[in-house]
Amino acid sequence: MSVPENLLFTQTLISPEVQAALPKGYTIRPLASDDYERGFLDVLSVLTVIGNISKAQFLERFFYLKAHNHEYFTLVIVSSEGRIVGAGTIFIERKFIRNTGLVGHIEDIAVDKNQQGKKLGLRVIQALKYIGAKTGCYKVILDCSEKNVPFYEKCGFQRKEVEMAWYC
Ligand code: ACO
Repeated sequence: MSVPENLLFTQTLISPEVQAALPKGYTIRPLASDDYERGFLDVLSVLTVIGNISKAQFLERFFYLKAHNHEYFTLVIVSSEGRIVGAGTIFIERKFIRNTGLVGHIEDIAVDKNQQGKKLGLRVIQALKYIGAKTGCYKVILDCSEKNVPFYEKCGFQRKEVEMAWYC
């Protein structure tokens, strides 16, 4: 399926039900190559330190992900003013186990501080779950802090296992 040059992946993987449930004037779509100017990195800054990323660095990463857009799906919610107000990623892992099964990993969920509490986070997760199901994942998993557990439970996730980390 052909994907417009400026979009990370095909719009056909965006859930129509999620689009319909957004506040009036808001849209949900794949990350675009000009979202640097629309505040994509500002939205991610609610998560952690972003660093001083240049447009060239952004584009290098964008086109790497686009070359692997059967595995990496980053989507954004855009406000009626054309600003990025929410974002999230699902990465599809290809396993040997489970009969060469696929697992979706949800990463980097962020909603602009001024836009939190409008169900935009929920819509991002619903849209990523839709991509996980459409691409054939047998499960979708994520790591989060204790304080975000109630949010992910509202998004249909259950507590399972324990996260371990080693920093290089
Ligand atoms: N504790 C309890 N309930 C919560 C919380 C919370 N911390 N956050 C949201 N909820 C509830 C809401 O009240 C709502 O419940 P309701 O349906 O009964 O009204 C439901 O969860 C959906 O909430 P949204 O309005 O969709 O949440 P929001 O748009 O504010 O997004 C998010 C939530 C993504 C956690 C946002 O607050 C955020 O960006 N936080 C900072 C960054 C962050 O922590 N990201 C997640 C990192 S983990 C990861 O990326 C895998």
